Amino acid sequence: MPSLITCQAGFEDLLTKELADGGARVINRGPGWALAEQAPDELAFAHLMLNDAVEVRGDSVNALAQGIAEILLTSLKGERIEAAWSCVFDGPAELVGLGRRIGAVEKAFGELLKKRLSRVARLATTELPRGLGETRGLFVWFTDFGVAQVARTIRTNGPRRMADDDLAPSRSYLKVEEAYVVLGIEPTEGETVVDLGAAPGGWSYSAAKRGAQVIAIDNGPLKGGALNHPRIEHRREDAFRYAPPAGVEHNWLFCDMVEEPHHVMQHIVEPWLSRGWCRNFVVNLKFGRVNPIALLRELRAPGSPLRRFAPDVRIRHLYHDREEFTLTGRVKPAE
Ligand SMILES: C[S@@+](CC[C@H](N)C(=O)[O-])C[C@H]1O[C@@H](n2cnc3c(N)ncnc32)[C@H](O)[C@@H]1O
Repeated sequence: MPSLITCQAGFEDLLTKELADGGARVINRGPGWALAEQAPDELAFAHLMLNDAVEVRGDSVNALAQGIAEILLTSLKGERIEAAWSCVFDGPAELVGLGRRIGAVEKAFGELLKKRLSRVARLATTELPRGLGETRGLFVWFTDFGVAQVARTIRTNGPRRMADDDLAPSRSYLKVEEAYVVLGIEPTEGETVVDLGAAPGGWSYSAAKRGAQVIAIDNGPLKGGALNHPRIEHRREDAFRYAPPAGVEHNWLFCDMVEEPHHVMQHIVEPWLSRGWCRNFVVNLKFGRVNPIALLRELRAPGSPLRRFAPDVRIRHLYHDREEFTLTGRVKPAE
């Protein structure tokens, strides 16, 4: 059965290419989604994956609600729901008026479920699961006014909208906050962070507000909450020339420079990871001027510094990313 995969709207063409590159058969696509068979597990552009999706069609709100309820009730046989479970209805915001339609179907579905299984209905939450991994529940994605894909399991790949902070000096702040969700850890009090290409300081501020000590490297000025922050040391230097003093290992490498991605891989990622200069990293690679699918293939190749020194690296096109990938991982300890 196919999987319905969501991505950032406007990037469905790249998601489709990534799927095809991984051997999947793409059946259909629309703004912010693609439907595919044999989708690979590792997808940079995927946000959510609704596995074994079943299509429901209906001309009216009630017909759709009925069809979705039947799928849930049939698949629930033998399954006991004792705790809160995710029941999420969504669809592309780009289709004007679809949100209202989805809301109406969700309400009608809720009423049907209450009549049939009131205890299960009471335990339903509309929250998407946090972090990464598979969750059982009910996930409904509308591809149009009369068509929905319905799944009982969802895989969250990590990307999600993050809350802003008034003191954050840039929108980029949201990307590193999101990267922590993908990686499952974040800088903590007493840890050290080197932020390459730090200005105006969104990433540095994010680490410093968690109590980490930050060396922020950039010729440009820091602003907002990063300016004169007691835990941020601003150094006006060339990031490509910075190396930690002998024997010093930083907890985190951050790198967010508008540079050619191969150049960043060769002159930042490879030396930092191979020499053990950091334990964890968040690195953005801008793909606006290269072929992003070819770049992904290179990053995933066995000889890539990521595979050699951080085999569990996560490569994502985040909710807050533009034309860039965020790489985040832990460096494999030296043998
Ligand atoms: C996209 S901005 C970084 C935004 C930052 N992550 C934030 O959260 O505010 C890129 C920065 O990289 C800096 N940069 C580019 N090349 C650099 C280099 N060789 N050394 C130091 N900084 C560099 C630029 O000055 C610019 O401030």
